[in-house]
Amino acid sequence: MRKNIVAGNWKMNKTLQEGTAFIAELKQTLAGKSLGCDVVIGAPFIHLATIAEQAKGSAIGIAAENCADKAEGAYTGEVSAAMVASTGARYVILGHSERRAYYGENDAILSEKLALALANGLTPIFCIGEVKEEREAGKHFEVVAQQLEGTVFGLSAEDFSKVVLAYEPVWAIGTGLTASSAQAQEVHAHVRQLIASKYSAQIAEDCTILYGGSCNASNAKELFGQPDIDGGLIGGASLSVEKFLPIIEAFNK
Ligand code: 13P
Repeated sequence: MRKNIVAGNWKMNKTLQEGTAFIAELKQTLAGKSLGCDVVIGAPFIHLATIAEQAKGSAIGIAAENCADKAEGAYTGEVSAAMVASTGARYVILGHSERRAYYGENDAILSEKLALALANGLTPIFCIGEVKEEREAGKHFEVVAQQLEGTVFGLSAEDFSKVVLAYEPVWAIGTGLTASSAQAQEVHAHVRQLIASKYSAQIAEDCTILYGGSCNASNAKELFGQPDIDGGLIGGASLSVEKFLPIIEAFNK
């Protein structure tokens, strides 16, 4: 059975003090509530050990926003998947369009990161999605197929089953332009079909596929109501509990 997940991605926001204040508030707010989804917070590396400790015993899982494509050694400034796992974080966001666009992450690099994340017991939240020009040229189905083919589709069925996917159309990220629920649903259904062809109908059925891109309190319920949308990867609206909570609650039927 696939899981519903609402995951925040803080990106490069929040000092350590702001991060811990957020987790304290979210933990207190969620305590005793019955939730219709798993809750994950993706945070900068320096926050991970502290907030993973803070989140113990709560419904909140912690994600890194990246990890190195090398296991260990002389790679100044990098943080390995093993180091991420040692903080108590259980997830790692990989393949975000900002990493692809600003830090040159390509399929080969992302395949290394995926393998290391999985080898260290982390759940990758793997992002795919087309840019505006590709959407306008009607190439979005083709683009996501290529992104999957070059990365997660290189995994064994067993490893692929551990991956969470996130469809994030780049033109909808941070722009206030959300994909309509119909636009998102048709890509999610396409992705699920590709998984079925590559692996099996059961693996496709069990794969959690999140939507990301200007998802907020006012559109979450409609997006999450689509048959192939299993939750969201939330940027801007994950920066305050006030904005994030209603997105989590969009799953409470
Ligand atoms: P926004 O929700 O700010 O559009 O960001 C989405 C995103 O990139 C999450 O990874």
